[in-house]
Amino acid sequence: MFALLVLLVPLVATVTPVLSQACNVTSPCPSAYPCCSEYGFCGTGYYCLGGCDPLGSHALDSCNPNPLCETANYTLSDTSRILSNYTLFNGNASQYDWVVEEGSVMNTTSGGESAVALILTENGGGTLVSSTRYVHYGTITARLKTGQWAGVVTAFITMSSIKDEIDWEFPGNATTQGQTNYFWQGFIPQQTNGVIEYGFTDTYTDWHDYTIDWQPTALTFSVDGNVTRTIQASECVNNATGVSEYPNTPSRIQLSLWPAGIASEPQGTVEWAGGMINWNDSDYVSAGHFYALFQSVSVTCNDPNPPNANDTGYVYGANTTLDTPSITYSNKTIILPKSTTGGTGGASSLTAASDMHGALVACMVAMAMAAHLL
Ligand SMILES: *[C@@H]1O[C@H](CO)[C@@H](O)[C@H](O)[C@H]1NC(C)=O
Ligand SMILES: *[C@@H]1O[C@H](CO)[C@@H](O)[C@H](O)[C@H]1NC(C)=O
Ligand SMILES: *[C@@H]1O[C@H](CO)[C@@H](O)[C@H](O)[C@H]1NC(C)=O
Ligand SMILES: *[C@@H]1O[C@H](CO)[C@@H](O)[C@H](O)[C@H]1NC(C)=O
Ligand SMILES: *[C@@H]1O[C@H](CO)[C@@H](O)[C@H](O)[C@H]1NC(C)=O
Ligand SMILES: *[C@@H]1O[C@H](CO)[C@@H](O)[C@H](O)[C@H]1NC(C)=O
Ligand SMILES: *[C@@H]1O[C@H](CO)[C@@H](O)[C@H](O)[C@H]1NC(C)=O
Ligand SMILES: *[C@@H]1O[C@H](CO)[C@@H](O)[C@H](O)[C@H]1NC(C)=O
Ligand SMILES: *[C@@H]1O[C@H](CO)[C@@H](O)[C@H](O)[C@H]1NC(C)=O
Ligand SMILES: *[C@@H]1O[C@H](CO)[C@@H](O)[C@H](O)[C@H]1NC(C)=O
Ligand SMILES: *[C@@H]1O[C@H](CO)[C@@H](O)[C@H](O)[C@H]1NC(C)=O
Ligand SMILES: *[C@@H]1O[C@H](CO)[C@@H](O)[C@H](O)[C@H]1NC(C)=O
Repeated sequence: MFALLVLLVPLVATVTPVLSQACNVTSPCPSAYPCCSEYGFCGTGYYCLGGCDPLGSHALDSCNPNPLCETANYTLSDTSRILSNYTLFNGNASQYDWVVEEGSVMNTTSGGESAVALILTENGGGTLVSSTRYVHYGTITARLKTGQWAGVVTAFITMSSIKDEIDWEFPGNATTQGQTNYFWQGFIPQQTNGVIEYGFTDTYTDWHDYTIDWQPTALTFSVDGNVTRTIQASECVNNATGVSEYPNTPSRIQLSLWPAGIASEPQGTVEWAGGMINWNDSDYVSAGHFYALFQSVSVTCNDPNPPNANDTGYVYGANTTLDTPSITYSNKTIILPKSTTGGTGGASSLTAASDMHGALVACMVAMAMAAHLL
């Protein structure tokens, strides 16, 4: 992935919005390209939107505010509320509920329900869809049907700008199982927090409601209203440092279908996902793709301190305690200036595509590492 980025440098150097410079908390972005994108590269424009890492950015307020949580039932009976290309997003979370960051989505019906299909193909790879709004605690329920094919992973997760993460994941062809997991600031623990949950009725054939109930004091996972796992925030205190390693930063909702059973993945990932993908599978041959179906995502917000009427989003402030940023509200616009949206040029999108790939690979490796330790 880095070789590809190096090759792209001459191209992106001629384009203003993007700098092919990696960023993180110890190596933040320069003022001219202040935003550290979700994939860890400096730029402007959409780099300042969803997933923009405030700690790797030039200043804590370089990223646009993270659009406020909205209590709503986001029906996915068709793709009309999903922007098909996130590089064209201007930040207006009232205009779109979701953006496609990788891959593509389709309208479909299944079991009498209209739904959106996330697509996975041999040449096009998987699909990642992110919510335009954030949740800073709340109850999130997705009604979905997973894939059923070895090597193909369906996921419904939350992900913050500093990589706090809460997962429902469905690897491969084990359609009577689900896996729950959580991460704090992208840190891979020595002993995984992942748990396999057994005894579901078919996750591919049947619609089920999978819930992530993320509250300040506890995280609860459930299926069709039945609780399967509860984690107390108090259990997540690192007793050596006193730091709470519990997901505590505003997070987007992400829906994805990704290829884990492919030759470029580490062996542990392939095994975790049930083996290599069979591109001759009759389902793949007849549909022309693999798919996972999403029918609705409902969100009940539970912000610890409710926002004021003019607040637009969440922003990061100084750390409250060791390694725990404070989260406050902002009333600044969440929308990009017109000059920085659309038509940022081919080179920047090439960079975006390669950033994407790098990040997906990193993410998959992380998930695989976690899974391998199960
Ligand atoms: C942060 O980025 C710098 C510059 O790219 C890199 O050298 C360093 O290894 C990164 N640090 C971490 C913790 O990733
Ligand atoms: C969300 O809306 C769908 C209809 O589009 C409905 O079937 C589902 O029950 C609703 N979910 C919740 C949690 O209200
Ligand atoms: C954001 O989108 C909504 C819905 O499409 C629209 O009514 C509103 O004018 C837009 N806001 C801005 C500032 O463009
Ligand atoms: C899905 O259906 C909606 C509503 O009819 C339409 O606006 C949208 O373009 C369709 N999406 C695709 C990808 O065909
Ligand atoms: C998943 O597929 C592999 C072969 O690809 C097979 O060995 C295994 O039995 C299957 N598992 C289930 C639960 O069907
Ligand atoms: C919840 O679990 C119980 C016990 O396994 C089961 O009888 C019941 O049908 C489940 N409820 C739903 C809504 O799936
Ligand atoms: C820290 O100690 C508390 C109380 O003994 C315990 O519940 C918690 O699991 C410990 N934290 C970790 C990360 O082991
Ligand atoms: C899939 O089909 C192709 C062409 O028909 C064949 O060459 C290949 O061996 C098949 N692969 C598997 C895993 O069956
Ligand atoms: C919100 O903005 C309006 C118009 O600028 C102002 O009149 C009002 O006092 C503001 N409300 C709050 C709570 O700041
Ligand atoms: C604040 O917390 C972040 C996130 O854990 C950490 O990277 C950073 O070093 C902390 N900053 C200070 C000044 O302690
Ligand atoms: C925005 O917030 C600032 C304080 O943070 C306040 O002074 C200002 O009046 C607010 N503006 C609006 C329109 O509410
Ligand atoms: C997204 O839009 C950019 C900018 O117009 C374009 O270069 C890129 O090819 C588009 N990506 C996809 C996957 O269509």
